[in-house]
Amino acid sequence: MNSSSQKQRIAIGADHAGFAVKQAIKKHLEQAGYNVDDVGTESEESVDYPEFARAVAEKVAGGMAQLGVLVCGTGMGMAIAANKVPGIRAAVAHDKMTARLAREHNDANVLTLGARVVDPSQAVEIVREFLDAQFAGGRHQRRVDKITDMEQVRIRR
Ligand code: RB5
Repeated sequence: MNSSSQKQRIAIGADHAGFAVKQAIKKHLEQAGYNVDDVGTESEESVDYPEFARAVAEKVAGGMAQLGVLVCGTGMGMAIAANKVPGIRAAVAHDKMTARLAREHNDANVLTLGARVVDPSQAVEIVREFLDAQFAGGRHQRRVDKITDMEQVRIRR
């Protein structure tokens, strides 16, 4: 945990497939002193992942949370949906190195995980790595700025 984590608000969400992993992440983050904003879901009853991706992404993009964590079956649907919200850089990561580099190089602000890929204890470790890492800036800032520029440009065919 980094020194500012006591004040960090983390938005979390999951669909039915990710519910149990989301609960494990929530418990860990609360015990570690994070301010957790859980947008649901609250059971294993079937729901549609874009709703939860959008809720977390809008909180992060709007500054109501510093970072977000989303869990579905594979992490893919959550990432695809969250990345539709301007300002969001959502990254799927199923190992600690990828999670750390997503922050350091890509300034990812949402981590997505697949509950059919990692178990709850692995997910918690990956989330910890993501939250503890810092954006490295420098040449990576230039590259992230180019991604941000793409949000301003309408597709021309
Ligand atoms: C739900 O069955 C599943 O499709 C969803 O959790 C996710 O893996 C989609 O990307």
